[in-house]
Amino acid sequence: MILAANFKMNHTRKTTHAYLETLAQFLSQNPTRHELFLFPPLSALDSYGRLNPIHVGAQNAYPAKNGAFTGEIGEEQLEEFQIRTLLLGHSERRQKLGESQALCAKKFAYYAALNYTIIYCIGESLETRKRGFDATLSYNLAQLEGIDLSYPKLIIAYEPIWAIGTGVSATLEEIDHTHTHLKKSFSAPLLYGGSVNQENLKGILELPCVDGALIGGAALRAEDFCHLIAIAEKIIK
Ligand code: PGA
Repeated sequence: MILAANFKMNHTRKTTHAYLETLAQFLSQNPTRHELFLFPPLSALDSYGRLNPIHVGAQNAYPAKNGAFTGEIGEEQLEEFQIRTLLLGHSERRQKLGESQALCAKKFAYYAALNYTIIYCIGESLETRKRGFDATLSYNLAQLEGIDLSYPKLIIAYEPIWAIGTGVSATLEEIDHTHTHLKKSFSAPLLYGGSVNQENLKGILELPCVDGALIGGAALRAEDFCHLIAIAEKIIK
């Protein structure tokens, strides 16, 4: 399974180094079968070296090698730190920064052509969820428009916006139902995200249609992420 920690606009380069140190120490004593991803803020990217099974990725990147794109980073800046993993289409970028589906798809195509591993996020608002399951499903599928679903390094994260950072995760029934339907459209691994924590991780990961979790707040402290990894380690599936 896959466990990914999204730092969002938290942590610095210094604290990310410390976080990775704690994590590496934990993993040296508690080896994991799972794949781990860490997304620190762009300013905390660095040459972290070989950290198997941890992949450090970027939360965003512009679809160009370099150029006149003020405030962005692109292929050249990622290459400096051997970054090969991206988080794309997060709802905070779509909603708060106005990132369109066309731009998400453009970023995906650019970095897929470079063979990056891409965790691509989808998820509906509460307003959409209230319009019923058909509306919810079509909304999520529309966020996959222009994405090559057969790309072998694609990982999809379903994160209902109403569950992100609210402390109220979707119920197991809601996750099961949505994931089961989404999975009819692709064979890429499907993560759940939205208020995942030490209390609900086990139940979520035990669902057969869940291939891992994307975690924000509950993974901000390295010790907490280690705890989440330990919980996942006990799940046989
Ligand atoms: P949360 O964030 O776990 O704090 O809800 C998840 C995410 O936005 O990726």
